[in-house]
This record gives sequence, structure tokens and C-alpha cells, in this order.
Amino acid sequence: MNKIEQFKSEKDGLDILPDVQRLAQEGWEAIDEGDRERLKWVGVFFRRQTPGRFMMRVRISNGFTNAAQMRALADITREYGVGYADITTRQQIQLRGFEIAHVPEIWRRLESVGLVSLQTGQDNIRNVVGCPVAGLTPRELFDASPVVREFTESFLRNKAYTNLPRKFNVTITGCTEHCVHAESQDIGLTPAIKSVRGEDVNGFNIAVGGKMGSGGYRAASPLNVFVTPGAAAALCGHITQIFRDHGPRAARNRARLAFLVDEWGVEKFRNELRRRVGTRLQTAGQDARGPRTTDHLGIVRQKQAGLNYVGLVVPVGRITGDQMSELARVAETYGSGEVRITTSQNVIVPNVPDQRIPALTGEPLLRVLRHDPSGPMRGLVSCTGIDYCHFALIETKDLALETARHLEHTFPHGQSLTMHWSGCVAGCGNHAAADIGLLGKNVRVNGEVIDAVDIFVGGRPGPNAVAGLKVLEDVPCKELPFVLERMIPYLSTKRASGSSAASAGQASMSRPLPPVHAIA
Ligand code: HEM
Ligand code: SF4
Repeated sequence: MNKIEQFKSEKDGLDILPDVQRLAQEGWEAIDEGDRERLKWVGVFFRRQTPGRFMMRVRISNGFTNAAQMRALADITREYGVGYADITTRQQIQLRGFEIAHVPEIWRRLESVGLVSLQTGQDNIRNVVGCPVAGLTPRELFDASPVVREFTESFLRNKAYTNLPRKFNVTITGCTEHCVHAESQDIGLTPAIKSVRGEDVNGFNIAVGGKMGSGGYRAASPLNVFVTPGAAAALCGHITQIFRDHGPRAARNRARLAFLVDEWGVEKFRNELRRRVGTRLQTAGQDARGPRTTDHLGIVRQKQAGLNYVGLVVPVGRITGDQMSELARVAETYGSGEVRITTSQNVIVPNVPDQRIPALTGEPLLRVLRHDPSGPMRGLVSCTGIDYCHFALIETKDLALETARHLEHTFPHGQSLTMHWSGCVAGCGNHAAADIGLLGKNVRVNGEVIDAVDIFVGGRPGPNAVAGLKVLEDVPCKELPFVLERMIPYLSTKRASGSSAASAGQASMSRPLPPVHAIA
């Protein structure tokens, strides 16, 4: 039995909740290893890089938040934290730098605006991801956010779901534009249409066993099951419990649902699901997803007449308390007070009337969090890096920004570029799923250890996902901006239009994602 399984068998992770008041009084040095791990069940993370200063991961289901929540988060980070927070690629917000003594007060404030940090770490169902413009975009089959909410409510504080073999990622979307990487999730629900007794019914097709880590990318396997929105949350619950009861637990790096799906095969998995559901499962409906992938940034018309959502870039997802307060004000002044968070670490202000757009775009905040960013800034994603993560081999966020700023002067205006950074092989920055992926490492040059990266190109999420291909190794971070500046014009997918290789290039730079384990 590995250490985490041992801790879980001694005491359920969620049972740390009543102890937190005591831990807050005793101080961080008194927290033993088991309780440090269990604190992750309630979203509180001891950080080895900053002993005594903790991180809290706040759950933002479907990326839906609002001005009141933004203000509360802003106040918390100014009063107890480091003055900024990090937006993550699971649409969450990570607060940093507070002491364990502050946790009860921070929770009190979060609760007062309807936020929790529960079950955001370790072997739990992580934040359920959904299209950030659900209910707004004319390009959705239907608004799937009520299903995200229903499923989340069913597992929060519910011990039926707090002893899983490992983390469990779920995405539920009705958007036809592949904005949320559903295919890399343990459960991916994507929009589909099923003809039932001659009538078209909207719902989801289900895929299971996707992952990005634990041996590399594996696309979720279609289960050949269609489910209506009304039955979807319960079905996700059944699938999670199959994982809980049968998922491998011995080795942490082989404990994801993917390994059970591989061991059983889709047919056996489907049969077990049918047994648990107790009724016939419907076969898959017609896939409603289109070929387009989008990030929902910029000024975009909503399905509601006269209204727009405005997607703003938060460079590498790091947002100051003051910017959060301003964002809250802007969302209330020009929109409905709602704020949405994207999986590219950015934010969206919905429900802005046409006539309010000029005033909104004239706001000082939008000169920093831009609605019209350069290509390199728009597609920039970065993991936490060495400042707060002890796995990191390099600093990532500042370097990512510096590199993007260097490139934006030479990159053709109006073209898109996704550039994703991971500070180590864990790959939290999804470096394999970007036009350019940077993976941090340390290399020895002339006897000196320096920060460097491997460079991947041509990665692409979506239904025909391809993993980035490693094209350069051990590039010193200091030289990276200049290496990329020379390289980008020759990336086949990024060539200026008119180049003879512009469309043919994709195939030569990319390759289909191989099955499990093939990518190191
Ligand atoms: C053994 C492998 C992994 C380890 C040890 C690991 C470790 C971590 C750590 C320590 C953090 C928090 C750092 C901080 O901000 O203080 C983190 C965050 C995160 N990681 Fe990983 N990670 C692993 C694999 C992955 C993979 C494969 C993905 C998916 C691409 C991933 C996605 C994320 C995301 C999205 C976050 C931000 C928090 C959230 O919203 O859930 N991680 N990871
Ligand atoms: S990729 Fe590595 S460095 Fe970056 S957050 Fe994940 S574990 Fe930390």
C-alpha cells in the first residue's frame, strides 16, 4: 500500500475538516505528514517552497464567478496573502502566502459569497470544467452548466467520493467549439443529438479514461453512450464509483481511470455501468461538435440580442488583488456582475450591451487585461513554476511573460499562437497541447548547471488532438526568446499566409497522439 492509501485508510481525507480549527491554533510546525496530505482534501496546500505559507485552491464550478466573489478573493489576498492570485487551467483560483491560522477566517469569507475550497486536491473529483460562455454563446447545442452544478453538489461533502484511487477530472460541455479539452478528462461529456422516437433530443456523448499525465496523454475512449442532461449528473456519479471500487491503487502513477479502461476494455466498462444504472443505456448520439477550436476571448456577440461577452487576457493567469477589485467593478458597471474564467487562465465579462462596449474598452483595466492582445500573449499558459512548486526545475511565469513580450513585436498581427509552459515533466501547463510547448529542465553547460527547456511544436487539443513534437533539447532559457524568434517563422502552422507550405505543413510538423505511455 502506498503512503497516500495508508493515510486514507487511517482517516478519510474529509475528516480533517473538524480538526482545522485546532491545527490553525497549533501552527504549521505541529501538522504531521498525514494531516498535511489530508488538508489537500479541503483545498489547503502546504508549500515546501514557502514553509508556513500555504496555498488555497478555490473551486469555481464551470468557471462561473461574480463581482462579490472577486471582491472577497481580492480582499483575502491583500489582507492575508501575497497581493495576487493565480487563475488555473481548471478554471479555479489559487490564493497564496497565508498562514494556517488564517484558514478559518478565509473560509468564513469565502462561504459568505458562496465559495468553497473543498475537495480541490489529492484523490478527489477536481473542479468540474465547463464552457465558460455556457448560456451565452450561439455556438452551443445547449447550456450544460446546470449539469455541472448538479454533479458538483452531489459529490461535495459526500464521503462516497472522497476515497478515490487518485485525482479525477470531469468536463461537461454543450459548446460545439472544443474550448475545454474534454478529450483529456477522466470523464468527458460533449454535446450530441439523439433521435428518440422520431424526435431529436439534445444531450451528451460520454468518453472515459482521458488523461494528460501518468505516462502521458491518452484520449478518452468513447463509451458509445448517450445521456440526456437530466440523467447526466447521476451517470457521472456511477462512473466515478466504478473508478472508486475497481480503479488500480497500488502505484500512484498507474492509478488513473485510464488504466482501468485499458484493463477492462470499453465493453466491460459499459456493462458495469449498465448494471449500476439498472436500465438500458442509449447508444451514442450524433456528435454535435464542429471542427473549430476557440478560446472565447475578445468581443463576441451573445445569443441574447444586443449583448456581448468580452474575454480579457490575464497574462499567465496571475492577477493582483487590485485588478480583481477592478474586474468586479467593471463587470458590475458594464455587464451583469458575472465573471467567467477560461481554461486558458483568462477571464470573461458577460452581458455587455452593444452601446457600452466603447466605454468598457476605454477602461484603464483593459490596457493591462486586454481584449485585443497580441498572438503570443493571447495563447500563453504557464504552470506555477519554482516560486511555489517544489517539483519545478525552472521559474516559469516571469520567463513565459518575458518571452511572449519579446515575440509580440515580431509576430504577425492578428495571428494566433498558443505557447504553454510546464516547469517539470509533471506537465501541469499542458505543454504537449500547444503550438509551442516549453518543458523546464536543468542542464550542465561547461560544468555549470543552468535553466533550460525542451521545445515542442505542433500540439493541438480537440477531437483530432496531436501531441507536440519535441524539436529542440536543452535550450538555455537565456537564449530562448532569440531561438523562438528565429524558429516561429518556420513553424509550418504559423507561416504567414501565402506561403506555399502554409496548409501542407500541419501534417509534417504534427503526428497523431500515440496511445498510452508512448509520450515520455
Ligand atoms: C505526478 C504528476 C503531477 C504532479 C506531481 C503535479 C503537481 C502539481 C502541483 C504541486 C500543483 C500546484 C502548484 C502550485 O500552484 O502551488 C499542481 C497544479 C496543477 N496541476 Fe499538476 N501535477 C501533476 C500532473 C498534472 C497533470 C498531468 C495535469 C494536467 C495537464 C496537471 C494539471 C494541473 C493543474 C490544472 C493545476 C492547477 C490547479 C487546478 O486548477 O487543479 N497536473 N500540480
Ligand atoms: S508542471 Fe511541475 S513545476 Fe509546474 S506546477 Fe506542475 S509539478 Fe509544479
